[in-house]
Amino acid sequence: MSEAEPDIRKGLVGVVADVSAVSKVMPETNSLTYRGYPVQDLAEQCSFEEVAYLLWNGELPNAAQLASFRREESSQRALTPALLEVIRAFPRDAHPMDAIRTAVSFMGMEDPEAADTSEPATRRKAMRLLAKIPTAIAAAHRASKGQDAIAPDPSLTFSENFFHLVFGKVPQPEVVKAFDVSLTLYAEHGFNASTFTARTITSTGADLHGAVVGGIAALKGPLHGGANEAVMHMLSEIGEPARAVEWLQSRFDHRALVMGFGHRVYKHGDSRVPTMTQYAEKMAEVVGDRRWMEMSRLLAAEMLAKKNIHPNLDFPAGPAYHLMGFDIPLFTPIFVAARITGWSAHVIEQAADNRLIRPLSHYTGATQRAVPAMADRR
Ligand code: COA
Repeated sequence: MSEAEPDIRKGLVGVVADVSAVSKVMPETNSLTYRGYPVQDLAEQCSFEEVAYLLWNGELPNAAQLASFRREESSQRALTPALLEVIRAFPRDAHPMDAIRTAVSFMGMEDPEAADTSEPATRRKAMRLLAKIPTAIAAAHRASKGQDAIAPDPSLTFSENFFHLVFGKVPQPEVVKAFDVSLTLYAEHGFNASTFTARTITSTGADLHGAVVGGIAALKGPLHGGANEAVMHMLSEIGEPARAVEWLQSRFDHRALVMGFGHRVYKHGDSRVPTMTQYAEKMAEVVGDRRWMEMSRLLAAEMLAKKNIHPNLDFPAGPAYHLMGFDIPLFTPIFVAARITGWSAHVIEQAADNRLIRPLSHYTGATQRAVPAMADRR
């Protein structure tokens, strides 16, 4: 390739940047496996804790390993009084993703092993983050509504505890299962933008907390994790199924993006969508409110017919979280609570066989020139 005509892949489309044994995204079959297991089977048959163990260790846990994993996670959920005070001091209208990003950054300053980038220390820190992130998300959310934080309950599973932290109670098992499924589906997804950010930060020799803070910053964007919130805002704006098709046409007329549709890798559908849709439908049944899923069905059919674009995971996740009772600003932070598993698996993998990530750019600015004296400047 000559220097004058570099092969620029804008957005790194199609670029294979490294090897990875964590997950496999297969656009030809619209499928995704974590360590070889189809994600929809993991979602149905395993708890999120089992999936977290799998992502970090390469194999599913046996009963004793799972019990020990659960003990470790559930015993480290509490935040320090200092962090709780910092969270209370956040501006009331702070964006929840900024709040969790700041809380994780603070956790890094408190962590006794913060600067230790050895694999055993990184694994211990990843466990602490997995355990504490839900507590911080819920505390920040409650503080934004003028409510006190609720102490985590170590007797509850990861998903049950999340509901307890946010609402002070645990809903019926179908609701907890639907939430747990969403965490599994959100846990990992190859070299997506936030994971690649975390790997890039790791490649400099920086620590896990720094990588996760960067991952959260990337995930906030509406083209990435922020889409699950945008979907619910969109459905709320449409308001009722009868308006769905007309509303969509106005988006087409304005050449505007329709949130929750399209994907950089999957062009013919996303294997996580049928599973999440099925659980979102279940939530609609439990709550007795079919409106959101009916609107979703109409939008998906019309997008496919008119644009041949399929929904992504954020499309059913948005209404599912709403039906579970969560406020919209919690949706993307929930994604963080799940993706911390994938991010840390990738951080461990990157550090184990590291090379600084440092691509090149093709310069298109001014040609080289002399610095003018102040009097000669326009
Ligand atoms: N709504 C409307 N049109 C869309 C679309 C959407 N959600 N997603 C893609 N398109 C259109 C593009 O505008 C483009 O049209 P053009 O050829 O006329 O320019 C065409 O489909 C192809 O887009 P593509 O190049 O495949 O998109 P991408 O790979 O650069 O972007 C996303 C992928 C996810 C960023 C993009 O689909 C998007 O912004 N989706 C909405 C946000 C979202 O749901 N994000 C969550 C991702 S998991």
